[in-house]
Amino acid sequence: MQTSWTELCRTVENCHLCPLSAGRKHTVIGEGDPHSPLMLVGEGPGEQEDLTGRPFVGAAGQLLDKMLISIGLERSCVYICNVVKCRPPQNRVPQPEEISQCMNYLRQQFVLVRPKVILCLGSTPSKALIDPQMRITRQRGQWILKRGVWFLPTYHPAALIYDASKKRESWEDLKALKAKLTELNLYTGRQVETDGIR
Ligand code: URA
Repeated sequence: MQTSWTELCRTVENCHLCPLSAGRKHTVIGEGDPHSPLMLVGEGPGEQEDLTGRPFVGAAGQLLDKMLISIGLERSCVYICNVVKCRPPQNRVPQPEEISQCMNYLRQQFVLVRPKVILCLGSTPSKALIDPQMRITRQRGQWILKRGVWFLPTYHPAALIYDASKKRESWEDLKALKAKLTELNLYTGRQVETDGIR
């Protein structure tokens, strides 16, 4: 039977399936439009996310908001979440065991939201959802259709903060995302005159 959002949130808030729960201040389940055709999946909460219980609210989140705006989308019209729902210590990459314990929650989010397009932000969601052998620098920007859902691997916004030269490729991916949503008749953003990520 399908879990409800209330049940899912309660289960995640009380979850102790992996050691990440010991260090958390808040679980970070996700936010945005729960009926959006577009879902964005990041790696896991950072410090600000752990403090607030909201995904992508720190520096990377602010850049993500700008990336969305560059293709005419507001954060509130997409659904944003992460592979793991608790902050890994020192923002390290979540370990395979932590990812596999948390994956059931992400699967339940897929069932509830039923996205048609999923943007994988960085290596962790791209490996977890598309291909464990994924090399993000080589395979970003390549669409994959899996069980009727389109997946696009792209750089994590934090990677663009460390290396601004990646913004050009990231902008290509955002344009491809907008084109895919338009092709599928799912684009609901506004037309904007931008030529990149600022
Ligand atoms: N990085 C992520 O992957 N997710 C967040 O929610 C914040 C930073």
